[in-house]
Order: sequence, then structure tokens, then C-alpha cells
Amino acid sequence: MIDIHSHIIHNIDDGSRSLEESLAILKNMKKIGFDIVVATPHYIAGTSFVADNKAKSTHLKQIKDIILQEELNINLCVGNEIFIDHDIPKYLEENKIVSINKTKYILVEFPRNTQVFHLMDMLFELRDLGYVPIIAHPERYLFVQEDYLILDQLLGMGCLLQGNLTNILGKYGKSAEKAFRYMLKNHKYQFLATDVHHESDILFKHFSKVKTGIIRLIGEEEFNRLTLENPAKVLKNEPIVLTEVAPTSKKIKIWKK
Ligand SMILES: [Fe+2]
Repeated sequence: MIDIHSHIIHNIDDGSRSLEESLAILKNMKKIGFDIVVATPHYIAGTSFVADNKAKSTHLKQIKDIILQEELNINLCVGNEIFIDHDIPKYLEENKIVSINKTKYILVEFPRNTQVFHLMDMLFELRDLGYVPIIAHPERYLFVQEDYLILDQLLGMGCLLQGNLTNILGKYGKSAEKAFRYMLKNHKYQFLATDVHHESDILFKHFSKVKTGIIRLIGEEEFNRLTLENPAKVLKNEPIVLTEVAPTSKKIKIWKK
């Protein structure tokens, strides 16, 4: 498998807290079947999560060296998880942030509980500039949980959707789990990823349960597409062709009981 969303670079954001932890995370990832991992540190303008590429590459080099020493045989690529912001194009141009593996694909996150003004305008601008926004864990956002129609709008404008594997275990709460299951069943995702922050992530202990639970909903072929084939296309900067997306037929409220 290939993971396009992880926080394995130490002391950069709220992910790994040491080089030792980065190594432990990668050992765990290798054990459950990941051979390529994209490190995507948060970039949230106006907060402490704004590590520049220099700091990132210094830490990344330390991790790559230790991987070699330990003969772990896992490849690392780099990107960012970018908090939605009008200035994303500027940050990219100034090399404050990077796309995934220097491709046209960028991993973008939204605030969890608040509506973003001009969200669509910002995404359209990124599309106009030739980027393909991959929306990180849409199942976790309140405005998605309240109205699944937004998913088709995002897909329709050329964004892609990445779910977090551990949502099948309810790691982020019942509403996120419901939305995750809905999106799987209705083939809304193009990617599944770990979004791993720490070596103790429940994914490692319960991976077989995660995989079985997801395969029960989408089948093995689609599981492979979301965890291997589509991520491989991203790394090679190849286009992702959407499988037929089942239209979201009605507005479904699942946030309020
Ligand atoms: Fe993340």
C-alpha cells in the first residue's frame, strides 16, 4: 500500500515527537503493509504549524538515514496537509509548502466545525491554477456530515476525496463513522490513508479489523484501488479517473438526532 497522508516527520507539527517515534511509526506501517509513505506535515498559517521546507527536509533526511541503517525498506515522499486559505497559491509559489511529491496534487484540510466562507472560490482558484485538491478526511467535517450533497459538488469541480482508515472503528466519533460508511458505500472516495500521528495509533493494533470492515463495504478490488492504485497515480502525476459516482439523491441529516 501507499499512504498519501501521514505526520511521521518529528517535531514539526502534532505528529511524531522524536526521531525514535518516527522510526517506530514506520516500522508499524511496514508491518501492516505500507511500502511508500508520503509525509504531509500540517501547514496552518497563523499557527505554530508552519514548518518551512528546510526544517522539514533536515528532519526527513534524519529519518531516511535511520531507515537505511535499520534496513526497513520503506520509501518516503513529501507533501503538506494544507489548511484551506486564500493564500495557498502564494505559499506554493514561495515554496513554503509543497504539493505531493512535486505533482499537481495537493492535500487540503478544512476546519472541522465551522463553515468556510468562499470555500468553493478558493478551490476553484486552485483548480484554475492546475492543482488537484485532495480533500483530507471529508467525513470529519460538520458541514459534510450535515449535507452529503457537498461531496458531489467537490467531486464535480475536480477535487478528490481521501478518507481516514480508522474511521471504520469510530476513532473520530459516531457522526464521522456514519459519514465514512456512507461515503464508502456510495463510492465517493478516491483514496484511503492513515493520517497517522503517533506510534500508538489504533490502526496498528486493529489493522485487520479495519481492512476487513472496509472490504465488507467496498470489496477488495476497490480497497486496492484506494490504497494502492490511485495513490501510485498521484505519485506519478497521472490523472485519476472517477469511477461512476452514485449521485447523492437527497439531503441527509445525520448530525442532529
Ligand atoms: Fe493529517
